[in-house]
Amino acid sequence: MGDLAFYGEWMKDDVLYLKEITPEIISKIRTFEMTKNDVLVASYPKTGTTWTQELVWLLQNNGDLKHALSVPVYKRIPYLEYNKKGVTSGLDQAGKVKIIVVIRNPKDTLVSLYHFYGNIHDSGVFEGTWDDFFELYKAKHVIYGDYFDWYSSWLPHIEKHNVMLVKYEDMQHKLPDVYNDVARFLGNPLSYPNKADIIEHLSFDRMRHNDMVNYKDSSGLDLKSSPFMRKGIIGDWKNTFSEEQSRLVDKRYHEVIEAFGISLEFE
Ligand code: A3P
Repeated sequence: MGDLAFYGEWMKDDVLYLKEITPEIISKIRTFEMTKNDVLVASYPKTGTTWTQELVWLLQNNGDLKHALSVPVYKRIPYLEYNKKGVTSGLDQAGKVKIIVVIRNPKDTLVSLYHFYGNIHDSGVFEGTWDDFFELYKAKHVIYGDYFDWYSSWLPHIEKHNVMLVKYEDMQHKLPDVYNDVARFLGNPLSYPNKADIIEHLSFDRMRHNDMVNYKDSSGLDLKSSPFMRKGIIGDWKNTFSEEQSRLVDKRYHEVIEAFGISLEFE
């Protein structure tokens, strides 16, 4: 595994970001003026960011599947922290915009992140085992920081009128309902004529074969280690976590997530 500093670089607020995300970009994110028509998707890595982005983009763009199937999602919904031109968010003014916070159970999220680590060649290739990765997690030395720290900064805001929480597990079980909830939240029509096609387009099987959401042409990822759309299931953590690791995460889950009255599904 090498030492803990092997992967990425420490940055502001003790959070580890990939090298490309410079302090200049982070400070632009804090000061850029947003408009009230902007929608921010706020998600910890591997919680269903891409899935939510695709849903939000389609709802905001009249369900235009043709366009969605011809332009990569990261060009349609830019990542603020990768946007070097400074077209970024202005989190200080986030009261103005609609924010969708995405959450997924922490164990599946960490397993997904572990597999994803093999794809990011930031400071070399991560060749560690799951146990090595879990040590990085325990040391809060994974990209974007600790899952629970991340959510403890966002969850206090979820009761605000301009903030909505979307659960990955709900998208799995009842995507048409989540579609309606998000459409209502964004003030979009509840049903485009091609709603059924949109739901189908958002299925794991379709997304797995859709190059526009698989980061195939992105320079930062090589995807040799694991496809971007890897398994797309609930409960994969059981194939990976030891009992002790599971207990450690449960403890923080009770302290941080359940403390906000949120319960997530683990299987
Ligand atoms: P797995 O690695 O568990 O398969 P993000 O976009 O935040 O990086 O999240 C990626 C995770 O979301 C991956 O999880 C991916 O398979 C899953 N995902 C993306 N689209 C999905 C879909 N339509 N159905 C189920 N899971 C999906």
